[in-house]
Amino acid sequence: MSVENLKDMNDLVSLSKRRGFIFQSSEIYGGLGSCWDYGPLGVELKNNMKETWWKSMTYRDDVDGVDASILMHPTTWKASGHVDNFTDPLVDCKQCKARFRADKVDIAAPCPSCGTKNSFTEPRLFNLMFQTFMGPVQDTASVVYLRPETAQGIFVNFLNVQSTMRRKLPFGIAQIGKAFRNEITPGNFIFRTREFEQMEMQYFIKPGTQKEFMEEWKQIRYQWHLDNGLRPEKLRFHPHGPGELAHYADAAMDIEYEFPIGWGEMEGIHSRTDFDLKQHQEFSGKNLNYVDQIDGNKKYLPYVIETSVGCDRSLLAVMCDAYRLENKGTEEERIVMKFKPHLAPIKVAVLPLVKKPEIDEPAYKLLKDLQKNFKCEYDTSGSIGKRYRRQDEIGTPFCVTFDFDTLNDNAVTVRDRDTMKQERVSIDQLKAYIQSKM
Ligand code: GAP
Repeated sequence: MSVENLKDMNDLVSLSKRRGFIFQSSEIYGGLGSCWDYGPLGVELKNNMKETWWKSMTYRDDVDGVDASILMHPTTWKASGHVDNFTDPLVDCKQCKARFRADKVDIAAPCPSCGTKNSFTEPRLFNLMFQTFMGPVQDTASVVYLRPETAQGIFVNFLNVQSTMRRKLPFGIAQIGKAFRNEITPGNFIFRTREFEQMEMQYFIKPGTQKEFMEEWKQIRYQWHLDNGLRPEKLRFHPHGPGELAHYADAAMDIEYEFPIGWGEMEGIHSRTDFDLKQHQEFSGKNLNYVDQIDGNKKYLPYVIETSVGCDRSLLAVMCDAYRLENKGTEEERIVMKFKPHLAPIKVAVLPLVKKPEIDEPAYKLLKDLQKNFKCEYDTSGSIGKRYRRQDEIGTPFCVTFDFDTLNDNAVTVRDRDTMKQERVSIDQLKAYIQSKM
């Protein structure tokens, strides 16, 4: 059997559209630059990704969750450094008005868009935060920002969580939510978008212990990506050199995945020192010190190890990794999305062999029963082979075929997506059988 992995991102873009994973945003109006909508299968996959992250990060005795608002007091972003530092250098072509990131284009070369020589403006700094206005008056006093990272919603709630949950160091606060960046060079499908979801956790620690906790979280987070099914040979760490560090970090490590477009960052693990708490303490005038009862009631600002993963970007990695083209050019050709069963959007497809009431009615009853536990699909149209192929392409791990024999033996045929092997399973045992394979 021949097997090809995903080579061209366009193949995934077209599968995503064809099968209802991801659509271009506002498509009927021609789309909106680098914004995407998750369709019926995409939203299931995304919810499953979020659920595995949430469980792995908060079903522990040292991490609590929050859900902070997207709009925050504008001083937050002054304090965090985003107003002054969250910028990219931009140049414009004076001839064709095309805009480029100065660090991504050779300013001495002709404009890549129109070919004019010496056509670039001087670089100027462009802030990536989206602005909007709060209240009815659109003046500068009412400017607020769409958050460019979820982290600040955690920092400003540090004392609230610590005191209400009676937390002692070390402990963490986790959050999943939307973030917005007016990226200048977005693209590559959902790899870099202007609206995306982050899954972030700040782990508050005693100053001086950051190396040890950075190492611990690096391993935990790497394992999460492996548990999502990503192949080890497509994963690597990338430590940041001094020139790469964000304005808040004293050390940072990316987890990268080899996408068809090359290696790209999926997750950042940052040692943020006490930068953020110190800044918020100064700008708000509120004392954010932690009182260390174990260490003689010493007062200090905790240090922070942050783990920050893009939900959309890790979902893209999962889709790229799951994609297989088997037996290309033969009668057995199939595209199969080999999602780990816990991530698969649809867990079980119920397929009545024929569309006759004596089969259809009990098969539909079986669907209703399975739906109490699993996200299922019911498909009656086309040959059984075609229906299997359709389920392979959306990554459904189990197809359950209800046939004439079922009426006598109360058993169904369960087909495994990956091996295509079929097994006869008694309906009484079906739920337990599927659960055991998940
Ligand atoms: N709080 C730290 C922080 O935001 P970051 O490295 O800027 O750090 C973390 O972002 C993660 O968020 C990235 O590793 C990536 O997965 C995701 N991300 C960042 N910008 C993105 C964009 N424009 N589109 C999609 N995902 C993005």
